[in-house]
Amino acid sequence: MKFSVFGLGNIGLPLTCIFASIGKVIAADIDKNKVEMINKGVSPLPNEELVPELLKKYVEEKKIETTTDLEYAAKNSDVKIIIVPLVIDKNKKPDFSAIISVSEVIGRNLKKEDLVIVSTTMPIGATRNVVGKILERKSKLKAGKDFYLVYAPEQTMNPHVIKDLTENYEQIIGGVNKKSAEKAKEIYEKINKKGVIVVRNCETAELIKLSGVGLYRYVNIALAAEIAEICEKFDIDYIEVMENTNLVKFYHLHKPTIGIGGHCAPVYPYFVFNQFKDFKLLKNSIKINENLPKKSIDLIKKSVGNLKNKKIAVLGLSYRGNVKEDRFSPTYEIIKILKKEGAKIFIHDPFYTKEELENKTKAKYVQENELEKMDGVIVATDHEEYKRLDFPKNLKFVFDGKSFLDPEKITEKGIKYLAIGRLCF
Ligand SMILES: NC(=O)c1ccc[n+]([C@@H]2O[C@H](COP(=O)([O-])OP(=O)(O)OC[C@H]3O[C@@H](n4cnc5c(N)ncnc54)[C@H](O)[C@@H]3O)[C@@H](O)[C@H]2O)c1
Repeated sequence: MKFSVFGLGNIGLPLTCIFASIGKVIAADIDKNKVEMINKGVSPLPNEELVPELLKKYVEEKKIETTTDLEYAAKNSDVKIIIVPLVIDKNKKPDFSAIISVSEVIGRNLKKEDLVIVSTTMPIGATRNVVGKILERKSKLKAGKDFYLVYAPEQTMNPHVIKDLTENYEQIIGGVNKKSAEKAKEIYEKINKKGVIVVRNCETAELIKLSGVGLYRYVNIALAAEIAEICEKFDIDYIEVMENTNLVKFYHLHKPTIGIGGHCAPVYPYFVFNQFKDFKLLKNSIKINENLPKKSIDLIKKSVGNLKNKKIAVLGLSYRGNVKEDRFSPTYEIIKILKKEGAKIFIHDPFYTKEELENKTKAKYVQENELEKMDGVIVATDHEEYKRLDFPKNLKFVFDGKSFLDPEKITEKGIKYLAIGRLCF
């Protein structure tokens, strides 16, 4: 069986390695540099577990061939996996351009009995109505009858994608019909030790994916922010409330945060909201969550006063700890607000070079050992390294954007500790 994978990013590249364990893979991407690197057996994801060594091995064994020629990949494979990005545009509408262009290529080269697997997170109905319709129009074949089409979401996060997709979580599959799902099940049973679950249809599988990170996690972050507001009005520490509430196994309060980033959590709620404008809980959650960076700066201002001409170091560009990923990072919004306040902004992140940080944020780079020159510090990312920081005494405040620092270690130096829902310190 010959596979092709379209989109060799954070998920597509590990997926390529997974499929190479059971067959030959033509891996296709529009990024020439990436393709050249992979063809030399070098991983563009050096920190992704298992990928660098597996990629090298499979390229040497000629199990993975990488190309920018998408037509070639589509033509010379029987199973085609789509894992290109789908994000939102300026108007918060899904931007299907990559999905459409890949579907057109596959459609032009589709043969009877081929299987198309969509793994990109999609709005409900998009597998059947966007990808399926394009494939049928371009190939003149019928989905579910002449060729097979399924949605197979990837329930994972870097840097442990291979483990997640082969042993940590069951593979969910939803087909445009039963036969499609059965075809895909036969393949995934060979790669997923945890098992394969076939659900009613592709729409069900799409909603399963969206319900996790796009809805459950998203509205719970908003709930945390609302409970945090109560804490701020009394002498209550949100984290103490959270930890003790969560002693009961049915409850899982989330931590409050400075903002939501990455190309999943801030994006998927809009896939649902665009289709279901009456979803009031989601509408309010979007309002609450998108205001988190501003709320954070307001808390600082309320506590230490005007930020004009204050030297403030923002620690962390990544949207979450211990990874290099800044798409939709709340740090960008924090910097924008600080600029409006007239603050002098400095930036640090151990995962980025000085040049990368300065180019991306237009703020000045600061080293960890230069923090004594600052008036205050905003720790925006929960990088492990920041836990070990010894903050200099002269700082007026440390804002703990992810509530992961020890407040006592900061307050005992006479520095004000600030965090959402934790004004009691
Ligand atoms: N990153 C995650 O944590 C995660 C987790 C689960 C699911 N997903 C899903 O995986 C999808 C891809 O995410 P990612 O993190 O791998 O993205 P990514 O941005 O890391 O990589 C996307 C790749 O697709 C390529 N690409 C873009 N347009 C293309 C086109 N028209 N033809 C061929 N290649 C094209 C890009 O060059 C890039 O290499 C997401 O949209 C999401 O739905 C992501």
